[in-house]
Order: sequence, then structure tokens, then C-alpha cells
Amino acid sequence: MRERHVTLLDGEKVFIRPLTAADAALYPDFLAEVTANDLRLRFFAPMRQVSPDLIDKLIHYDPDKAMAFIAVAEATGRMLGVVRLHDDTDGKTAEFAILLRTRLKGHGLGWLMMKHMIANAKDKGLEIIRGQVLTENTTMLQMCQELGFHVSDDPLERGVKVVALPLAEVPAEAMA
Ligand SMILES: CC(C)(COP(=O)(O)OP(=O)(O)OC[C@H]1O[C@@H](n2cnc3c(N)ncnc32)[C@H](O)[C@@H]1OP(=O)(O)O)[C@@H](O)C(=O)NCCC(=O)NCCS
Repeated sequence: MRERHVTLLDGEKVFIRPLTAADAALYPDFLAEVTANDLRLRFFAPMRQVSPDLIDKLIHYDPDKAMAFIAVAEATGRMLGVVRLHDDTDGKTAEFAILLRTRLKGHGLGWLMMKHMIANAKDKGLEIIRGQVLTENTTMLQMCQELGFHVSDDPLERGVKVVALPLAEVPAEAMA
């Protein structure tokens, strides 16, 4: 469950597994192929590049309070994407974020990584997964809706939607 071999819509074979500290070495090559616009959609702020300090923070998460999964190309070992989920202090709700290598967008990897993260969250006993998505990010909003997330306006931030998935509404077979 923590690891999974998948095949993308174009036939590319990908291994999804927990992110480890050693994966810091894969980040520069990955981020070199993520556009500034995709970084903005992920971090909500203009960002020309991700600083080594931020990479260090992203890599060193507390496994009791967070989970993160990396997707690597089986043929080359290159990093293709990352999804993460950080528990809120209540221990019931957790917040996700996802980022893919830009050329991989639209190949089905985002969907597979979201499903992997949701299945692991359900396994952990979390109750609700939520996230913030920019209103302009229609691909992400549509994907969230198809995955069963409820979408609403963020009451605190203009131009931002809140997506929330009560895990009790997700049938176990939907995660296969
Ligand atoms: C948003 C993001 C994660 C989406 O991932 P993606 O790999 O491009 O999306 P996918 O190809 O998996 O899915 C998108 C489409 O396929 C559908 N889809 C993919 N696999 C599917 C499957 N197995 N079954 C049903 N539907 C599927 C999705 O619903 C959607 O439909 P569409 O192509 O007809 O529009 C990715 O584009 C990204 O990293 N963007 C930049 C950063 C970002 O926006 N992060 C989110 C911040 S909240």
C-alpha cells in the first residue's frame, strides 16, 4: 500500500513510494522541469526557484504527522512528481499538496498519486483530507471533484477554493 507500480496513460512505468531524505538529490533535476506557473499554482506565490532550505524542509517531514510520496520513472529513476499530506493538530484532518514535472501533466499521474495518498490517509484513520486550490486551477478543481472532494470558496482568501474529502465517503474498492 505504501508503494505501488503504475502505468501512465502513455505506457510509461512509474514507481510511487514514500519520499525519503535521500530523494533531496532528485529535486534539482525535477524542479528544473517545473514551470514558474506550476510552482505558483503549488505554492501560491511567484517563485523563480525553490530554495535549498525549502527542499530541506519538504524532505524532512515527521512521519508520525505527515506522509509524502514520490513518483519516479522506472526506466530512468528520475523524479516525476510528489504528493504530501500533513496532519492538522486535531489528528483527524490533513492538508495535501501535489506537484508534477510539467511535461508529465495530463498523463494520469496526478490522478494516480492523489488516489495513492487518499488510500494511505484512509488506512491511517484520518477523517478529512483538505486542500487549497487557486480558482484558476481548473484541472485540479475538476480532478478533485471527480475524486469526490467537496469544493467551496475559501472564506479567508479571494481567488482560492477549499476542497475537502470526508474519507468515510470513499469506498475501499474505489482505491484499488
Ligand atoms: C494539478 C495536477 C497535479 C494534475 O495532475 P495531472 O497528472 O496533470 O492530471 P491527470 O492527467 O492525472 O488528470 C487530469 C485528467 O485526467 C482525469 N483522469 C486521469 N486519470 C484518470 C482515471 N484513471 N480515471 C478517471 N479520470 C482520470 C482527470 O479527472 C482529468 O480529466 P481531463 O484530462 O479530461 O481534464 C498537475 O497538473 C500539477 O502538478 N499542476 C501544477 C501544480 C498544481 O496545480 N498543484 C495543485 C495545487 S493544489
